[in-house]
Amino acid sequence: MDKQFLLYLLSSMSTEEKAAQLTQLNPVCFGHEFITPLTGPDFGFRVSKKSGASIGSVLNCDNATAMIAIQKRHMEEDPHAIPLLFMADIIHGFKTIFPIPLALGCSFSPELMEESCRIAAMESSVSGIHVTFSPMADLVRDPRWGRVMESCGEDPLLNARFSTAAVRGYQGQNLEPLRIASCVKHFAAYGAPEGGREYNTVDLSYGILRDTYLPAYRAALDAGAKLVMTSFNTVDRIPATANTALLRDILRTEWGFNGVVISDFNSVGELIPHGAAEDGTDAARKSLTAGVDIEMMSTHYMDTFCGTPDEADSLLDEAVLRVLTLKNELGLFENPLRDASPEQESHCHLSVENRAAARRIAGECAVLLKNNGVLPLAPIQAIGLTGPFAASSRVVGGWSAGSEHGISLYEGLTGSMSADLIHLAECGEPVSILNGNPDISFPDETFIARFKDCDTVIAAVGEDQADTGEGASKTNLRLSPNQELLLLKLHEAGKKVVAVVFSGRPLELAPALPYCDAVLQAWFLGTESGGALSDLLLGKINPSGRLTVSFPYTAGQIPVYYNHFQTGRPEKDPTKKERYVSRYLDCPNDPLFCFGYGLSYSEFEYSNFCLCESGTLTASVTVRNLSDREGTETVQLYIRDVAARCVRPVRELKDFRRVRLTGGESATIVFSIGPEMLSYYKTDSAVLEDGEYEIMIGRNALDTLSGKIYITHNTSVKEQV
Ligand code: GLC
Repeated sequence: MDKQFLLYLLSSMSTEEKAAQLTQLNPVCFGHEFITPLTGPDFGFRVSKKSGASIGSVLNCDNATAMIAIQKRHMEEDPHAIPLLFMADIIHGFKTIFPIPLALGCSFSPELMEESCRIAAMESSVSGIHVTFSPMADLVRDPRWGRVMESCGEDPLLNARFSTAAVRGYQGQNLEPLRIASCVKHFAAYGAPEGGREYNTVDLSYGILRDTYLPAYRAALDAGAKLVMTSFNTVDRIPATANTALLRDILRTEWGFNGVVISDFNSVGELIPHGAAEDGTDAARKSLTAGVDIEMMSTHYMDTFCGTPDEADSLLDEAVLRVLTLKNELGLFENPLRDASPEQESHCHLSVENRAAARRIAGECAVLLKNNGVLPLAPIQAIGLTGPFAASSRVVGGWSAGSEHGISLYEGLTGSMSADLIHLAECGEPVSILNGNPDISFPDETFIARFKDCDTVIAAVGEDQADTGEGASKTNLRLSPNQELLLLKLHEAGKKVVAVVFSGRPLELAPALPYCDAVLQAWFLGTESGGALSDLLLGKINPSGRLTVSFPYTAGQIPVYYNHFQTGRPEKDPTKKERYVSRYLDCPNDPLFCFGYGLSYSEFEYSNFCLCESGTLTASVTVRNLSDREGTETVQLYIRDVAARCVRPVRELKDFRRVRLTGGESATIVFSIGPEMLSYYKTDSAVLEDGEYEIMIGRNALDTLSGKIYITHNTSVKEQV
């Protein structure tokens, strides 16, 4: 339809119809019998059949049959026959579940994120979904926060690359069939709650907000994301949902975003408990004025903007026109059912191709944290298998409603080796605070004796997927006492212990690490977890994942992240245990495992670091595979601005390159260094300062080769020895 048609529609709508068009509810809220997942507290918002006939969008309807019924009834009842938008949380897959985003980020392969999102778009569009609330572009430095699993970790550049890839995967070129619109969330900085406590206060400097937390949202919008979701938290003491500086000055004016802004679940209503609004009417007016178009899961717009002409009518018109434009871009006026098809659902949900892709992608996301040579296992050796995740299907991760179960590790292993060789000894359910499985059964000597014929035992440990995601902050990140005891007992029994850790966050592994001969961080890898982990443990795949989030020694060390400032009294030599420097008495400053870290079954050597300038500045290094097996290395470029008007991080990731090398093969990796890599935000604009820069290339944030250069604005780079 053309814009005139949309303007005509708008002109024919009453104020209350406009407010209803700007309201999104779960089907249960407007009298539908279809029960679909409620992803927040049920505040009891219900609307009458009449007003429900005019609402604009539906939250989390998850199947074609329901969508078709709801849409058809709506088109009959809505006075203007404006089709409903169906939106849902498709975070890491729809029916075929892919690794959680925190795991996907560890692949350092944005193309895998794009592929998984393309498949998720196809599976969900045939179920009638038009918009996904993804990518979650919140940067996270605190693993106590449960939603770290939905993020790609602690680095602005990596988050930006993966947000871009997700939008491309969901939306394709321009919302062609089997693609869905992307809603980037949660704008902004929801990933920085004080204490890692869910929904807690966020208090950041403007510079840190700009330099660190905003780039990934901006990247998603530059990639064409059609919607933005506001976050629950405050930004500079004003809740994001009512934050004009954030939503109008930055998002709309500076970034030029003209798509739809949607609140989070009742975040309009939550202005009241925040203490930012007197009542629902005040909350509605402040949200609309700040720039929120759609109110999700509350009805303050409908309760406030009703009947009489209202001074907010022009704002209502702007918001409604943006919603109508999105519906038009999706082709809903011509075809309100779009791709919804129960027949197509049965063809493509969990298809062989989609599951194969899920297994291949999952194999790139696990991270080998320790290996004293016990891995890879030989598929002809007898192995023990125990731990709460040994045969558990709860391996897909949060936000997987309707597909909560995947291939277990046991199933995966039996797909590649004889079950007779696998001595399985289950010991309870995954450990969950939320689901009430406080710990595994006690591993006594009789239990350990069950592995008498095995030199090597795989211990599948971790946290339950219910204890990750929204509303799942924790202060204790250790494995449960009996899981740590299991590892100890196996070690004391002289077994080679391979710990496979299932979690949606970095856990505190330091206490158990001495008992483990190998540690494979399995995250939650989705539907095909077990097969992918089997491929990795048996050496069919050479591990290539690299951490995108630091693993702390202890929760007391949090926040610990790689791109920190140096301080005025940096600790230069930990062995000296100097008193008056920035350190702890009882813990190192560096994390147990740092950003970019990960092992392989191959060994890679870095040499010949070179900085050169011939018109452009480049940094290069030679990487050689010293082993006899092919492997993939992620070569990382870090830069430090040594002195500037604002202090700068000790290093910042500025590029990365995955290189696949056969045994003995070497390659020279060259990075071009441009001004955009050297600038930072000061007040309202990016600045590039003259001065000395340190350029680093390496296998992780703490293991690099480096050189220094001096840069002035107008002259070429002067290399400093
Ligand atoms: C939840 C989440 C948000 C999600 C929304 C709809 O509270 O914060 O990420 O998209 O509600 O389910």
